[in-house]
Amino acid sequence: MKSIASAPGKVILFGEHFVVYGTKAILCSINKRITTTSQFLDKKIVKIKSDLGEKEIDIDSLANLDEVFPEFLRPLFHIAYDALEENSKNKGIEITLESEIPYGVGLGSSSAACVSATASVNGLFRKLTKETILKKAIEAERIIFKQTSGADSAVSVFGGLMTFDTKIGYEKLSIRNNLNLVIANSLQIHNTQEIVKQVKNFKEINKELFEKLTIKEEEIVKNAIVAIEKNDLKKLGVLMLENQYLLEQIGVSTEKLDILISEAKKSSYGAKITGAGGGGCIISLVDENNSKETISHLGKISNSFMAKIDYTGITYL
Ligand code: PMV
Repeated sequence: MKSIASAPGKVILFGEHFVVYGTKAILCSINKRITTTSQFLDKKIVKIKSDLGEKEIDIDSLANLDEVFPEFLRPLFHIAYDALEENSKNKGIEITLESEIPYGVGLGSSSAACVSATASVNGLFRKLTKETILKKAIEAERIIFKQTSGADSAVSVFGGLMTFDTKIGYEKLSIRNNLNLVIANSLQIHNTQEIVKQVKNFKEINKELFEKLTIKEEEIVKNAIVAIEKNDLKKLGVLMLENQYLLEQIGVSTEKLDILISEAKKSSYGAKITGAGGGGCIISLVDENNSKETISHLGKISNSFMAKIDYTGITYL
């Protein structure tokens, strides 16, 4: 018996970094997914197969995850161990992940892996509710990313557009808008925690400026929700560029990202960094009139691909 589940990655449309200090951010899941296939093994081991390598560990050794390397596999071993314990099963599990989401560039690959693995592994026993999948996936991700807000996992589970802030948490937007994005991957792997720390230092040294930028970001996010509702691409593009300017001011852009933005600006409605910056990806807003031109511009200097909003979220196959 096989249990297969698939979960989408995400982009942050507006509000990254400022969200850490209470501003609302807007996220959406994208039609790039991680699919996880799980099956029982007679041998009492957990075996993980992915594009990033293979690893198998005896179940008895999984009680202490601190000794599991590479570290990024710990959440997946935890998910398998937790499911086997909860269902007192005297077996092993093999988990195979197949990903369309580039790793480590802010597109939510780690959350999508945890969400799809939680659904797939537990699906060997019974199908969990979306709420339980989310709770377990966040618990798994926190093993390596202690500070994660859970927003990436939430948008991966439920799909679509959502706002997130630290007080209210995530709120699904009921708007169904078919935004088309060109995502350009700088291929510079970024470390979110490091960049968040760097922004914290910037904020401490530039208190007044940061306050002003925060007010600006709040306005941008408010206006962006209205523009998404109206499907006003021109306005959304302008807001993306304004948001990009704020991100540049807090120092999270790089020379490579600046080049990608200026290239994207030539033909798209607007472009900005998505996620932490310091590398990673930019997104640019397009429609059928300018998508080919934009992808051809960006494709010459980066790994670029088209993405749409995914409205399905986690799904069993
Ligand atoms: O690059 P990502 O997708 O990990 O984005 C991080 C988003 C930040 O706002 C920079 C940090 C956070 O915890 O919200």
